[in-house]
Amino acid sequence: MKKYLVIGNPIEHSLSPLIHNYWMKKNGLKDSIYEKRKVEEEDLKDIVNQVRDKKLAGVNVTLPFKEKIVPFLDRLDDTAAQSKTVNTLINVGSKTVLGLNTDGIGFDRSFAKGLKDELNGKDIFVIGAGGAMLQILLSIVLYANKIYITNRTRKKAEQLRDKHNGVVVGEKKIEVIDWGKTPKVCDLVINTTSVGLRKNENLGIDFKEYENNKSALFYDLIYNPEETNFLREARLRGNKTINGKMMFLNQALASFERWTGISPKIDNEVIKLLDR
Ligand code: ATR
Repeated sequence: MKKYLVIGNPIEHSLSPLIHNYWMKKNGLKDSIYEKRKVEEEDLKDIVNQVRDKKLAGVNVTLPFKEKIVPFLDRLDDTAAQSKTVNTLINVGSKTVLGLNTDGIGFDRSFAKGLKDELNGKDIFVIGAGGAMLQILLSIVLYANKIYITNRTRKKAEQLRDKHNGVVVGEKKIEVIDWGKTPKVCDLVINTTSVGLRKNENLGIDFKEYENNKSALFYDLIYNPEETNFLREARLRGNKTINGKMMFLNQALASFERWTGISPKIDNEVIKLLDR
C-alpha cells in the first residue's frame, strides 16, 4: 500500500484527501491511499523520516508547518528555495527527501488564458505579505507593470520590496502602500491574507473607486468560504471575481503529478467535491 498524508494543525477542514483519493481511484491507483493527520511540531522530524524510509509515499504540508518542516528536509527545489516554505514532500532516491512548493504553480495555472496573457503589463495590488504571497509574487513579478503591496505589518511588505526591487525587477516595480489605503486603481487585486476565512471578517480597505472600473478582477486565495466579504463586495460593485478553488485544485494536481507521474483532469466532478 502506498500511503500519502496531509499534515497540519488543525487539519479537520482539509479537503485534500477527497481530491487525491478521487484522482487515485479515477487513475486506477488501487494500492494508494491519502489521509489527513493532525500533528504537533515535535512530530515533523519523524514524518520526514518516514518519507526517507519510504513508509510514506508523499506528504502535503499545510498550516502552520510549511516553514517549520524545512530544517528536517535534505533539499529544496527551485519552487521552495526562495520562500523557504514547502507544501509537498517527495523521496527522490538515495534517502533524499525533497521539499517543493506547488502553490505558485497552482496560482499560475488558475488563470485559464495563462499567466502571461492575463497579467502582461497589468497593475496589481496585493494584500498580505506572508508565505502564500511570496509564492505568488515570484510569478506576478515576471509580467506585471507595477505591483503595490500592503500588509498589516508594514515591515514585511518593505522587506519583500527591498529584496526584489532593483535585484529581480526594475527599481520601482514594487511599491508599499500603508495598511488601510489603496494605490491608484489596478487591473487585479489579490487577497493573500487569512482575513475572510471566518465569516464577517473584513479587511477594512475601501474599494469604492472600483465601481467605475468594472473590468478589474478581484482574486481571493481563500476558497472556503466560497465567497469572502472581499469577493462579495467586489461582485456587488460589478467587478470580476475569482476565489481560490482553481489554485487549490491546481496545487494539488502539481503534487499528484510529482508523486505519481500522472496528470489527472480537473473535471466537474472534482470541482464539485469542493462545494460544501
Ligand atoms: P500564509 O502562508 O497563508 O501566507 P502567513 O505567512 O502566516 O500565512 O501570512 C498570513 C498573512 O495574513 C500575513 O500577511 C498577515 O499579516 P501580518 O504579516 O501583519 O501578520 C495577514 N493577516 C492575518 N491575519 C490578519 C488580520 N487580522 N488583519 C490583517 N492581516 C492579517
